[in-house]
Amino acid sequence: MALKYMTAQEAAQLINHNDNVGFSGFTHAGCPKVVPAALAKRAEEEHAKGNPFKIGMFTGASTGDSIDGSLTRAHAIKFRTPYQTNNDMRKAINSGDIKYFDLHLSTLAQDIRYGFYGNVDVAIIEACDVTESGEIVPTCGVGISPTIARLAKTVVVELNNWHPKALRGMHDIVEPAAPPYRKEIHVESARDRIGTECIKVDPAKIVVVECNSPNEGGGFAPVDEITTRIGENVANFFIREMAEGRMPKSFLPVQSGVGNIANAVLAAMGESKEIPDFEVYTEVIQDAVIGLMEAGRVKFASGCSLTVSNPCIEKIYKNLDFFKKKLVLRPSEITNNPEVARKIGVIAINTALEADIFGNINSTHVTGNKMMNGIGGSADFTRSAYVSIFVTPSVAKGGCISAFVPMVSHHDHTEHSVKVIISEYGVADLRGKCPAERAQCIIENCVHPDYRPLLREYLASGENGQTPVNLYNAFAFHEAFMETGDMRSVKWRKNKN
Ligand code: COA
Repeated sequence: MALKYMTAQEAAQLINHNDNVGFSGFTHAGCPKVVPAALAKRAEEEHAKGNPFKIGMFTGASTGDSIDGSLTRAHAIKFRTPYQTNNDMRKAINSGDIKYFDLHLSTLAQDIRYGFYGNVDVAIIEACDVTESGEIVPTCGVGISPTIARLAKTVVVELNNWHPKALRGMHDIVEPAAPPYRKEIHVESARDRIGTECIKVDPAKIVVVECNSPNEGGGFAPVDEITTRIGENVANFFIREMAEGRMPKSFLPVQSGVGNIANAVLAAMGESKEIPDFEVYTEVIQDAVIGLMEAGRVKFASGCSLTVSNPCIEKIYKNLDFFKKKLVLRPSEITNNPEVARKIGVIAINTALEADIFGNINSTHVTGNKMMNGIGGSADFTRSAYVSIFVTPSVAKGGCISAFVPMVSHHDHTEHSVKVIISEYGVADLRGKCPAERAQCIIENCVHPDYRPLLREYLASGENGQTPVNLYNAFAFHEAFMETGDMRSVKWRKNKN
């Protein structure tokens, strides 16, 4: 049947106040652009007429500014889940303007299928191709697209001609059945394909909006001395693990987190001559992976999105024949699936905002109350990895914040899931250590020298027991930062005696 074509403005009229809208993509990669921008404009027009207009939002992860930024600025969001990284949205979440609930990225698609968050009224899917039989070929990010496209009453396909149709074949689309009929996910290596090359829906519910919009990929901060040292410490840790027989010499698939530090760590791992060429089974594929792939260091990468800078995606598109043999893009519930991560032995490397000396990790909240981005896929991998590593620079904000504190101000990953912590100073291998031993190991190996005496004092003030915390002093670092802007001005409330 012939597909219906319309403008972005007409498509925006299909969405009503209080609708739940699902957006394709994952990070800026694969996100629609022109329909969300038209939707934001529509919300502003409705508000100007005195009409309410807010939607519920499901996304794969963070999105580009044309979704999260423009809809936030238009005050068009009723609720939003999951991960986000937009500055305007972050402010709106922290001021209470947007009701945000954070989720593990592997669980969102299944939660939507289970009906936990209501219906999906409209799905907006960026595609490089769409056929009259209802085949939709995503662009460079998949996220939750298969689920929202299947469940939505209306599917707006943003056919973005900036992306080549030849992307068809890079994706592996699959949706697990719901329990009690769910079966094993047959991904035994990063290269395995278990699904189809496109999303297929009833063509009667598709409307198509054509556009030619460049990706919204920003760059990464250049690798600096600190991130290089963290990367070298990670590489040396792996070299020791192989030498001591705790890791296969052929290596295991690597998951690396989001952001500048993860990008830099992977680049440093690629530099190490003693780490063999390796595969990547991850959520976001960042610039460093593509560079290592060209250098022959990364043999294959499975991910949910090409979260790369614009020059990098242009390079991939120019050499698509080469990269299609080395990349597969899957839905987030497969890339981040704990069952797969444990089976194939993923090495998980994620970034902490803050760690405490007992090995608990805060990845999401600044001073316990302010949302930074969200948990993303970090817990999907951390809990199920072969070995779970957290990396962090020892200090933030010019040394006024220690990344290592007596007690984390928000808890994302517990001491039970965190095996190794690495800063630019060294490696804290926490495996097999009791809480007091872990604390010593972290203080002596990872903490910035300015903070080591302070954390030794804290540990000495701890009450006897399995975990030597001192609840009077547990948040003294945070208190000092809130009062003076520098954790080094800490004043303990109570010593042991
Ligand atoms: N307290 C307050 N601010 C802190 C901080 C702390 N303990 N530690 C870091 N920051 C600030 C930095 O100063 C920086 O601020 P700026 O943007 O004003 O310069 C900001 O946090 C980001 O830090 P940066 O050093 O650039 O790290 P990054 O880009 O690698 O991001 C996370 C780090 C933790 C925010 C990011 O990795 C994240 O969102 N993680 C959670 C999700 C996740 O792990 N996903 C991976 C799953 S596959």
